[in-house]
Amino acid sequence: MKILGTVILFTVFTSNSALDFCYDEEYCNPYAWGDMFPSCHPIIDEHHSPINLDQHMTRNHTLEALNLVGFDTAQSGEWTLKNNGHSVVLEVGEGMKVDGGGLPAEYTTLQLHFHWGSNFTNGSEHTINGRRYPMEMHIVNMKSTYYPNLTAALDDPTGIAVLGVFIDVANVSNDSFDHLFSLVPAVAFKGRTVPVTPFPLNNLLPVNNLSQYYRYHGSLTTPPCSKAVVWTVYEVPVYISEEQLGEVTSGVFHSEEGDDRVAPLHNNFRHIHDTFGRQVYASKDATLLSAAALPVCNLLLCLIPLLGMGMS
Ligand SMILES: *[C@@H]1O[C@H](CO)[C@@H](O)[C@H](O)[C@H]1NC(C)=O
Ligand SMILES: *[C@@H]1O[C@H](CO)[C@@H](O)[C@H](O)[C@H]1NC(C)=O
Ligand SMILES: *[C@@H]1O[C@H](CO)[C@@H](O)[C@H](O)[C@H]1NC(C)=O
Ligand SMILES: *[C@@H]1O[C@H](CO)[C@@H](O)[C@H](O)[C@H]1NC(C)=O
Ligand SMILES: *[C@@H]1O[C@H](CO)[C@@H](O)[C@H](O)[C@H]1NC(C)=O
Ligand SMILES: *[C@@H]1O[C@H](CO)[C@@H](O)[C@H](O)[C@H]1NC(C)=O
Ligand SMILES: *[C@@H]1O[C@H](CO)[C@@H](O)[C@H](O)[C@H]1NC(C)=O
Ligand SMILES: [Zn+2]
Repeated sequence: MKILGTVILFTVFTSNSALDFCYDEEYCNPYAWGDMFPSCHPIIDEHHSPINLDQHMTRNHTLEALNLVGFDTAQSGEWTLKNNGHSVVLEVGEGMKVDGGGLPAEYTTLQLHFHWGSNFTNGSEHTINGRRYPMEMHIVNMKSTYYPNLTAALDDPTGIAVLGVFIDVANVSNDSFDHLFSLVPAVAFKGRTVPVTPFPLNNLLPVNNLSQYYRYHGSLTTPPCSKAVVWTVYEVPVYISEEQLGEVTSGVFHSEEGDDRVAPLHNNFRHIHDTFGRQVYASKDATLLSAAALPVCNLLLCLIPLLGMGMS
């Protein structure tokens, strides 16, 4: 597969717009990615992300909270927030790692970014029982002991560990997100970057519920859609206000400053893919299994556990 490898390297390391992917035009949207990036084609490789998370899961009692090393302190140095035309990406410096929680190795934290809808629609990538949240954050980590860079890690089925966090809307503003979101206007246009003073990444996580998550093996949700990701999707969302959500959904463009066409970056999420029999695990403390079993069963199957032994 030498040709395929060359194509992937080329597209990862150039910004050639002729080959760029998009979310809003028919010729380059997620359904067309497979034409430009063969490994995005679901028929060629049935291990895609995102997926719908539902009751078709197996409880795995060995899956406890991950160790998020360095997430509780503000690291030294300087981070960078960047609009890459597909998302807003926070590139973090050294000092943070994740392991434990059934991960096959230790992973170094590289960056985090967001997926969203438009200002009136939901935009998470994973869904829970068909529900799409307004936003999803991805913290991207690489199996650092083995690989010098991301491209090398993409050839390993567990080369990348992504932590997914759902972001929902409540009517209180969340100070924890202000530090980051207040910088979004500075990166409104594609290609813009702004320095960020490091802060504890825990500020962006559902810190009281980190032992509740789902685990499966899948892909990057953007080209080249490499089958390289161990997914950890946290069950409990974090909350921001509608105004905070709007700062991102209405304030980011996939066009460059001065372009003739000012194009808002909306709906930068990939469609749901079939699990094709993949194992999806619920962590020891996840609650979806019991909560989700009821709405989908038929009357008879629902009544038996209810009448029989109650709900556990
Ligand atoms: C539980 O998860 C661990 C870590 O991913 C895995 O090695 C093990 O096989 C899983 N257990 C079951 C019963 O599937
Ligand atoms: C969109 O988000 C709202 C508010 O979080 C939620 O009530 C609604 O069910 C979501 N819609 C879909 C289609 O998932
Ligand atoms: C990434 O690592 C691979 C494997 O060591 C190497 O061949 C490649 O040149 C590296 N790419 C970059 C951009 O550093
Ligand atoms: C949240 O919304 C409820 C219902 O709309 C309202 O009664 C309440 O005052 C709001 N709380 C805040 C802090 O805005
Ligand atoms: C703000 O976000 C943090 C981390 O994401 C979360 O722990 C906290 O509960 C949120 N605050 C509110 C008021 O929702
Ligand atoms: C989050 O964790 C707290 C403390 O363990 C628990 O009381 C609460 O029910 C959890 N929230 C959800 C939505 O599961
Ligand atoms: C929604 O977004 C559009 C375009 O990004 C903008 O023109 C409009 O004012 C926004 N509406 C609200 C309520 O934020
Ligand atoms: Zn992502």
